[in-house]
Amino acid sequence: MFAIRQSSQMSFRSKVVETLSAMGRIWSHLRHDQTDRELVIHVTTGDRKRAGTDANVWLILYDEKDQATDTIKLNRTLKNDHERGDTCTFLACSGNGFGHPIKAEFWRDSFGLGHNWFLERIIVEDKTHGSEHIFPVHRWVRAERHYIIYEYDCCLPQEDEFQEQRRTELKEYRRLYQYEQHVENGPVQIKELPEDEQFTEDYKWDIVKCKGRFLLDTKLIRWTTDKWESICDLKKCYKYSLGEPACLEYWNEDRWFGLQRVQGVNPVLIRLCTEIPENFGVAAEMVEPFLEGLTLDEAIQNKKIFIIDLEILQCINCKDDRLLCAPLALFFLNKHKELMPIAIQLFQEKGPDNPVFLPSDPPSTWLTAKMYYSNADASFHQSCTHLGFTHLLMEGVVICTHRNLSNSHPLFKLLAPHFLFLLAINTRGLEKLISPGGWVDKTMTIGRKGMFELIAKGLFYDKTFFSIVFLQHESVAYECPRNCTK
Ligand SMILES: [Fe+2]
Repeated sequence: MFAIRQSSQMSFRSKVVETLSAMGRIWSHLRHDQTDRELVIHVTTGDRKRAGTDANVWLILYDEKDQATDTIKLNRTLKNDHERGDTCTFLACSGNGFGHPIKAEFWRDSFGLGHNWFLERIIVEDKTHGSEHIFPVHRWVRAERHYIIYEYDCCLPQEDEFQEQRRTELKEYRRLYQYEQHVENGPVQIKELPEDEQFTEDYKWDIVKCKGRFLLDTKLIRWTTDKWESICDLKKCYKYSLGEPACLEYWNEDRWFGLQRVQGVNPVLIRLCTEIPENFGVAAEMVEPFLEGLTLDEAIQNKKIFIIDLEILQCINCKDDRLLCAPLALFFLNKHKELMPIAIQLFQEKGPDNPVFLPSDPPSTWLTAKMYYSNADASFHQSCTHLGFTHLLMEGVVICTHRNLSNSHPLFKLLAPHFLFLLAINTRGLEKLISPGGWVDKTMTIGRKGMFELIAKGLFYDKTFFSIVFLQHESVAYECPRNCTK
């Protein structure tokens, strides 16, 4: 009995011991799980030509104390990982006591035919603490080269721990991004468009979709309209496809013409008028009927008179010897805060063959003067404000930035979103729109040749911001081919 009881007591005790030890194991396992961090790693390959890789890829993450994870293989069995534009997800565990992943080291081999790899970013989710760590890479990863990137990858060169990596990358960029002057006297442009700058597949697809839609719209317009003889004919072209713009009802009003000078596409020309220029044939009595009881001098003193002088358009060589005005226009800010045009002179030299047009002229005469002014303004806007000083001038800035600032530089980070597809758009634009016989030649008075002449003139015209900052040509005056004053 005793023996039996003892045996059963022993058995009970051993069961208790066994249970306790199992609980201990579970507790220890749970504790282990709490310190062993579960990491979810998202790896995004860039959406650009030959960006995807068949190579084997590895990653090590480091925390604030420089403790490393084991080497994590970023390839799944029987999966075609790291294809162009794809994000692949991997699970990994860090060891006990691993802090926050703040540094990533990655590399690849040269396995497979297509082993090039453009790595866009790595995002690490720390499931235990619900935190996310972003490693923006934006780089081509060369075979067998170890890359080390800090979280957010943003630091000045003097603070960079990996100076050599930075130098090597810049050397490569200087080979890819080279300057060339395509337009005589124009700003520098890219010698050859680097593959990295080409449109992504998504963007190309968007262009194709837009093009298809526009072609369809154009066909519809052709079917539903004939040659435009009047404003009513023009209205028809909006009816079925584009939607009627509200300004069709008031496009010819003076208030709208004034608003265009500050809210339109080219609000960079208007200036406060402190005196009427000598070559502008405006006399006080001509404009005073439009000044709400003020004399011209009073209106100037009250800072209510504004002027636009398109003198820069003088002597520009237009296509087929078409005539482009170089107008002056005067505006009055009325008590309703509306900018009203009060005088337009279409050419620079005052004289009997160059009248000053006024709002009191017959409506069609005044409207025609405003239309000629607007055409001159559009020529300046498309040539200088838009193409020259936005697209082309920025092209040089893009090249210079890539050649001199690492992808890790804080300024590069700020500028990069503004550079997206800029070189590709310029290259395409110059081919399609500004080529000889292209869109500019077909539709604009100034034409391609005049446009480039005007851009060059604009860059050297006066001591502008551009000539001082970008070209350092402040003392160089523009030499007009036909010896006009500017
Ligand atoms: Fe543009």
